[in-house]
Amino acid sequence: MEQEIISMPRIGEDAPIFTAVTTQGIINFPADYKGRWVILFSHPADFTPVCTSEFMTFASMEEEFKSLNCDLVGLSVDGLYSHIAWLRTIKEKIEYKGMKDVEVKFPLIEDITMEVSKKYGMIQPGESNTKAVRAVFFVDPVGKIRTIIYYPLSLGRNFEELKRVLIALQTADNFNVATPADWQPGDDLIVPPAGSCGTAKDRVEGKEPGVKCYDWFFCTKPLPKEQVFKAIKK
Ligand code: BEZ
Repeated sequence: MEQEIISMPRIGEDAPIFTAVTTQGIINFPADYKGRWVILFSHPADFTPVCTSEFMTFASMEEEFKSLNCDLVGLSVDGLYSHIAWLRTIKEKIEYKGMKDVEVKFPLIEDITMEVSKKYGMIQPGESNTKAVRAVFFVDPVGKIRTIIYYPLSLGRNFEELKRVLIALQTADNFNVATPADWQPGDDLIVPPAGSCGTAKDRVEGKEPGVKCYDWFFCTKPLPKEQVFKAIKK
């Protein structure tokens, strides 16, 4: 029997190109998002509880992501009319954790052929042959994949964590730094980023105010929260 080849895009690669029908019309990905960050995420199925809680949460945060120069694009292997009916039900009927009348304004891709979900490794047969797992792809303004996170069907995502990942990626680019464990905007950053040559201590200690070296390979510097956000919000 011929085995189906499942492609899995990787960090640092160009985001696979596709054209798709969505609840907001046709999109060409990633070309339509050039110059902006975009989070492409999949969910297993419309009219399911975990996905509903996720959509309500993400839609409630959409303006916040937009102000971080980031658009959202959802996907499931359901059809367009299912998407439309589900999103209408969410808006008209569901009140959850203080969220109500939630309108999902970002595009939701219909992928009944599984063309896009297969291209992005969202169909993971060990979990399900018929539904996409909860995948999250962070694509940068030049169309490169910068972070990938996969969750199983039963686990709802933490959208504050997705926002933290986005801001950390943008901050790494804007200030040529890396972000330590559990970093939040306003916390110290790591200089120079991991993988640079030379010793961090030689190159940075004493050259910039506030730089602190714990050893030759591990130096940090402060960066106020306001500067983190000023660099993002153009
Ligand atoms: C949910 O979103 O609730 C769900 C979807 C597919 C499988 C399990 C849970």
